[in-house]
Amino acid sequence: MTTPGWWAIALCEAVNDQTPLAVAFGGEELVLFRNAAGQAFALEDRCPHRRVPLALGRVVESGLQCGYHGWTFDGASGGCTKIPNLHADERVPPRYAARAFAVREANGFVHVWLGEGTPHGELPSSDYLPIGREFTGSTIVNMSHDQYLAAMLDGPECLLGFAHVRLTDFFLGDLRSEQGRVVLERGAVWTTQLLPSQFVVDYPLIVRTAVPLSGGSVRVDLLSEDELPLITLMIATGANRRGTTSLCWRGFVHDRLPVHAPLRWRFARTRKQAPFQVKNLIDGVAVAALLQAPSRDLRAMRRPHLIAASAVV
Ligand code: FES
Repeated sequence: MTTPGWWAIALCEAVNDQTPLAVAFGGEELVLFRNAAGQAFALEDRCPHRRVPLALGRVVESGLQCGYHGWTFDGASGGCTKIPNLHADERVPPRYAARAFAVREANGFVHVWLGEGTPHGELPSSDYLPIGREFTGSTIVNMSHDQYLAAMLDGPECLLGFAHVRLTDFFLGDLRSEQGRVVLERGAVWTTQLLPSQFVVDYPLIVRTAVPLSGGSVRVDLLSEDELPLITLMIATGANRRGTTSLCWRGFVHDRLPVHAPLRWRFARTRKQAPFQVKNLIDGVAVAALLQAPSRDLRAMRRPHLIAASAVV
C-alpha cells in the first residue's frame, strides 16, 4: 500500500535526456526523463492517444515524443505540444494531456509526489548526506513492499549485509519512533570474532534500522559501539507490480576507522570495495522463519492510504 507524499523512486544518474526510464511504483506506471538543461520530469507511462507506453518513445527538444504516432508531451505540464499530422490552422486540443507528477531531486535521488494535493513536506532522503565515494544500485525483489519493510525490522540480515560483519538477533533497546521513522538497533560483531556467549554483552558494532512511518525510504547505519557512524545506507523502496518491490540505494563509508576492524575491512576501504550488499535474491525460507516481533508495531504505526488516481500537477 502506498501513502501519499514524496517518494524517492530512482537514482538521479539513471534518468537522462536520451532514453526514457519506465518505473512501476506504488501502483503507478511512470516514465522519467530529462530535458537538455538537465531538468527531470515524470509523466504517467501511458499515451493519452492510444495508451501506448510513453517510455517506448524518445526524448525530443520539446518533451517526450510517443513512439506510435509521434505526439509530443511537455514534461512539466504533460500537455500535448505537437501532433505531426495536424493542419497548420488546427490547434492541439488541451484535453490531450498526459498526467504529470511533481519532481524534486536531492541527495542523489529523484523524488516524485504521489497522491492528491499540493506537494509539501521534507524529502525522504533529506538526512542522507554522503561524504566521499558512494556505492549505488537498483533491483526488483520478489517480495511485497509491506513484507520487505517488516523484514527490515524483524531480520535485516535477510535483506542486506555489511562486509566482514555478522548481524545478531539481539535487540539493543526497544523499538522507538524518531523523525518519522521506526528505529531499532541490534548488536553485530566482526566476522573474525566469536559470538559472545554471555547473556549481557557489549557488542562492538550496532546496526540501526530506520523504517519510515509513511513513504518508502529506509535508512540503515552501521555504528561503532560508541554509536559513531561507520557506514550509512539509504534504500528507496516501493511496490512494483505483482507483489514485487522496487529498490534503489546509495551508501557510503564514513572517514572513521574502527579500532578493532579486521585487516580485510581496512584493505577493502583502500581498494574502494563496496562495504555492503543489498540482496536482490532473498531467501524466502529465512524470511518465513523470522519472528514477527518489531514489525507488529510497525504495521500499527504505519497508516496506509491508497492514492487516488488523478493528476497532481
Ligand atoms: S499512441 Fe501515442 S501518439 Fe498515438
